[in-house]
Amino acid sequence: MRQYFRQLKSSIGRQFIKRVFIISLPAVVLFSTLVIFELLTVEVAFVCYFITLISNVLMLFPISSELQTLRNYIESLANGKVDDIDITLSEKDTKDLAQAITSIHRLWTSKTDALEAQALSDAAVFDTFPDPILMLDGEGNLIGSNLAARQFLGNNLTGINIDHLFSTNIFISSVEKVLKGNSDSERVVFHTPEHGNRQLFAHITKLPRQTKSRAVAVISLYDVSRALSLEKMQSDFVANASHELRTPLSVISGFIETLQTTARDDADARDAFLGIMKEQSEYMAALIEDLLSLSRLEMGQDKELKDKIDLHEVIDDIMQALKIKAFQHSVNIKINELTRIPKIIGDNQQIHQVLQNLLDNAIKYAPENSEVNVELKTVPEIPAKSGQNVASGRAVSIAFNNKGQKINKEDLARLTEKFYRMQIHKDMKIKGTGLGLAIAKQIVLHHRGNLTVSSTAYKGNTFTVYLPIKQ
Ligand SMILES: Nc1ncnc2c1ncn2[C@@H]1O[C@H](COP(=O)(O)OP(=O)(O)O)[C@@H](O)[C@H]1O
Ligand SMILES: [Mg+2]
Repeated sequence: MRQYFRQLKSSIGRQFIKRVFIISLPAVVLFSTLVIFELLTVEVAFVCYFITLISNVLMLFPISSELQTLRNYIESLANGKVDDIDITLSEKDTKDLAQAITSIHRLWTSKTDALEAQALSDAAVFDTFPDPILMLDGEGNLIGSNLAARQFLGNNLTGINIDHLFSTNIFISSVEKVLKGNSDSERVVFHTPEHGNRQLFAHITKLPRQTKSRAVAVISLYDVSRALSLEKMQSDFVANASHELRTPLSVISGFIETLQTTARDDADARDAFLGIMKEQSEYMAALIEDLLSLSRLEMGQDKELKDKIDLHEVIDDIMQALKIKAFQHSVNIKINELTRIPKIIGDNQQIHQVLQNLLDNAIKYAPENSEVNVELKTVPEIPAKSGQNVASGRAVSIAFNNKGQKINKEDLARLTEKFYRMQIHKDMKIKGTGLGLAIAKQIVLHHRGNLTVSSTAYKGNTFTVYLPIKQ
C-alpha cells in the first residue's frame, strides 16, 4: 500500500492531480447548477462530485503510470542502458506507442551498427596505406591519422596543430592556403629537420564539404628523399661523365689547332702531338666503353643469371688478354688455387668483366718488378655488413693482391664510387677512368656476392670478389 502511494506520488505527482481536477471541472459546474435550481441538495452534490473525482482518478491513473513507465524506458534507451523495449503494458494506446518506439529503436540500432562497421572498415583501409595520411580541422588541428602517419610522427597526434609537427614555412603556408579556401589542393616538396632530415612531398587537399568529424583538409605525405638523392646522383654522374670526356677532347682539339698553325711544318712536334692525341683518344674510347658497360648493367638489372661459369676458363682468358700489359709493367702474375673451385651460376660476360677489371688494376697499380697474386678458394659464407643483401651458403672467393703504398681509410671507403681515383695515381699519371671498380661492384652485387678491399703496408692491397656458387 505504501509502495502504491509512493508510486502514485512520484509517477502521478502534481501534474496528475491538476489533470484530475481539470477533468472534473464540468461536474462541478453541473452539480452547482443543480444545487442552485434546488434539484440537488448540497450534500448529495458533494457525494456525486466525490464519486466523479474518484472515477476520474481510477480512469487516468493507469494511463499516466504507463506513460511514466514508457518515459523511464525511453530515457534508459537514450542512455544506452537497455537494448530493447521490454515492458508489459495494458492500455491499447500506450501499447501502440511502445511498439512504434520499438521499431524506431530497432531501425536506429541497425543503422548505427552499419555505420560503426563502415567506420571500422574505413579506418582499417586507411591504415593499409603505406604513406602517412593526416586529417585537419579548420584550425589546422589534427583530428585523424592513419597507421603510417602514427609510425612516422608518433602515437598521440590527435589535437596537435600541424605547425607543431612541421615548421617549414613553405609547407605551413600551403596548408593555410587550403584551410582558408584560397586553393582546393596544394603540392609541395619540403625538408623536415624535425623528422630525420627527410625530403617529403605533401599533397594537401580540401574536402568537398566538412565531414561529421569536422575534417576540412587531408594531407598525404610521401618520402621522396631517396628518389631525390638518386636524381642528384644521376645528374652528378652526367656532369662527371661530360667533364671527363671534355678534358681529352679539348686537349685533342688544342693540338689540332697547333698543328694547323704554329707547328704546321715542325715534324718533331707533329709526332709528339699525334702521340698525345692517340693517347687521349684511347682514353676517350676506354671511357665510352666503361660508360656503355655501366648503362648496359643498369638496363639489365633484371637479366636472368643462368650461365654455368668455369672460373678457370675465365682466368685463362683474362690472363691472355692482359699478358702484354703485365709484361710491359714487368709484373709477374701467380695464380694459386687453394681449394678446388666448382662451376658457378651467373652471367659469363659480366664475370669476365669483373675479374678483368681487378686483374687490370692489380697490374696497373703494382710497382714495377713485383708480383701479383691471384688466390682462388671456396668459403662457407659470403662475408657481409648488416643491410647487405648477399646470397647465403657456399661461395667462391677470388682475391687479387698487389704490392704498393697502403691505401688510407678515406680512399678505401670511396674506391668503388664512380669516377673516384686516388690522387697519388692521378699524380703518377697512371691512366684510368675511375669506373672499373664501380662496374665490378655493381656486377658482384647483381650476383648477390660481395667485393671487399683490404690494404696493409706489409701485404699490399687485396681486392676480393665473393660469388655464390648457386643463385
Ligand atoms: N689494385 C689496386 N691497388 C691500388 N689502388 C687501386 C687498385 N685498384 C684500384 N685502385 C685505386 O682505385 C681507383 C679506382 O679504380 P678503378 O675504378 O678501377 O678506376 P681506374 O683504374 O680506371 O682508375 C684507382 O684509380 C686507384 O686509385
Ligand atoms: Mg681500373
